[in-house]
Amino acid sequence: MIIGSKIKLCDKRLADARDDYTWRTDLELAQLDAAPLLTISFPQYLLEYTSELCYSSLTRRRFSIQTLDGKHIGNCLYYDINETKGEAELGIMIGNRDYWDKGYGADAVTTLLSYIFRQTKLNRIYLKTLELNHRAQKCFQKCGFTPCGHLFRNGYSFVIMELHRQQQ
Ligand SMILES: CC(C)(COP(=O)(O)OP(=O)(O)OC[C@H]1O[C@@H](n2cnc3c(N)ncnc32)[C@H](O)[C@@H]1OP(=O)(O)O)[C@@H](O)C(=O)NCCC(=O)NCCS
Repeated sequence: MIIGSKIKLCDKRLADARDDYTWRTDLELAQLDAAPLLTISFPQYLLEYTSELCYSSLTRRRFSIQTLDGKHIGNCLYYDINETKGEAELGIMIGNRDYWDKGYGADAVTTLLSYIFRQTKLNRIYLKTLELNHRAQKCFQKCGFTPCGHLFRNGYSFVIMELHRQQQ
């Protein structure tokens, strides 16, 4: 477990499945993330969830974001880890709207960044977020990310942001 100021990052567990399913079937969250809306049933999702928890990946590390008193409010991860290039992509979602705009996202990102730079040799962390998602961009700017490019994919326009080890 990794402790921040307002949150802790914990390994994913089966008990997160219901929240994760609720968030993955939420249209607004899917749109903010340019992600497809999940259409499978909860029992089917649970089956896939259970088998995914059983294997660990060399190119991805996922965490649940919990408040300090243990409430699951979202998830974050770093993925596409490329040790040759020394970089990885970061992703985050605070699924529980009651916790938006209160600094939980920035604390989760800052806590994850300091973990990555402490525990790995990665030098550059980047992310992409929708051009229209001003909240997310503001959150990432507060954490030290700066825009470094644009991407147009599947009809969506993304801002790419990056942060180097020495900037942290
Ligand atoms: C994006 C997200 C991770 C940010 O986490 P958060 O806890 O809400 O963010 P923070 O409170 O740390 O920072 C948000 C900042 O954006 C500001 N903000 C909110 N709406 C805004 C808007 N429309 N325009 C500009 N700034 C805005 C907030 O005031 C806050 O800034 P402040 O601390 O200076 O007041 C979270 O809101 C989330 O997951 N949202 C839903 C899913 C999503 O957007 N996914 C895509 C992530 S790439």
